[in-house]
Amino acid sequence: MNAIVIGGNKTCCMDYTNKEVLQIDQLTITNHLPDIGIGKIREEIITGLTSGNKYISSKFFYDEVGSGLFEEITKLGEYYPTRTEKSILRSIASRVMVNTQYVDIVELGSGDCSKISIFFDAVNPHNMEGLHYLPVDVSQSALQHSANSLIERFPGLQVSCQVADFMCQVGKIPYNAQRLFCFFGSTIGNFEIDEAKQFLIGLSQSMQPGDQLLIGFDMVKDEKVLHAAYNDAEGVTAKFNKNILNVVNKLIGSDFNLDSFYHLAFYSKKKARIEMHLVANEEVKVNSPHFQGGSITIKKGEGIHTENSHKYTLFDIHHFAQLSGLELKEIYTDANGWFSLAHMVKPA
Ligand code: SAH
Ligand code: AVI
Repeated sequence: MNAIVIGGNKTCCMDYTNKEVLQIDQLTITNHLPDIGIGKIREEIITGLTSGNKYISSKFFYDEVGSGLFEEITKLGEYYPTRTEKSILRSIASRVMVNTQYVDIVELGSGDCSKISIFFDAVNPHNMEGLHYLPVDVSQSALQHSANSLIERFPGLQVSCQVADFMCQVGKIPYNAQRLFCFFGSTIGNFEIDEAKQFLIGLSQSMQPGDQLLIGFDMVKDEKVLHAAYNDAEGVTAKFNKNILNVVNKLIGSDFNLDSFYHLAFYSKKKARIEMHLVANEEVKVNSPHFQGGSITIKKGEGIHTENSHKYTLFDIHHFAQLSGLELKEIYTDANGWFSLAHMVKPA
């Protein structure tokens, strides 16, 4: 049974243990992560750290600190995706929101919710009460902060926060009406290509006829622009990358020292993706009570792969739609062709 905590002020992130429904003022926050369980998460992390090519899933970037650092990244001059996608959203907001009075809007990886608020700005305040917004994110702190500010800005808007892993828990998100799924930021780019295909096929299967999907894709472009976006002069992306080790330390009780690693981000033209790694400055021995057989050694110069960020072509977007059985209604793109927002519908 779920515990219902009223008036809690917990902002703990990635809580895979406590199945609670938090009621904080007008906000309901449902945490689905305990259905995955901390045991499985530890296993996943340890499998990555002990494999031939070490890796950590990019979903572990987003504790409270990581979500804050991502928000800082979105404001950097070098990081063009956020402002470019927002300009596209502003230009289509009234068209998208015209028929959404009794629609459940499910946003996957909602982060600071600043993109969806562009849509809410386009809604007549009298119609706000018919809208139900369900942001889905692994970061409870991001959900809590952003949903509180949405409720203040848009009186009448119903918000139900879902702390969940969108890779495997979309089926757990409740709904009562036709749905508009939003998946902004080109977060799909953080999946391996096969994972992205499986994800879209699964999402499409869970959609009802008439349900819609708005999904952002960061496009292939000049390598210098891409390189700068993930190697900013202020070093915010480097901090964001290293913070993943703090999250891992919390989840598996390990003793990673962030100073023993440096940030590496490069564009692979062959794979059409930015790869981020953390590379050891020196030989590192990492301990955790959950490691079987002592510590893990990371050699000097060895990397831990922390993120892929795929870049796409219009052909890729058409291919994704076709593969997942969704009807591609429109692709909206900025003047430079740097970012695309695809509008897809589940056919009858
Ligand atoms: N959509 C926002 C945020 C993008 S950052 C924007 O466009 O600015 C990616 C977001 O997805 C973060 O908020 C992160 O916490 C969330 N996220 C990453 N992996 C996730 C997963 N497996 N399940 C749910 N949320 C995830
Ligand atoms: C969330 N995601 C789409 C971002 C990206 O660009 O891949 C995360 C990020 N990593 C480094 N900078 C931003």
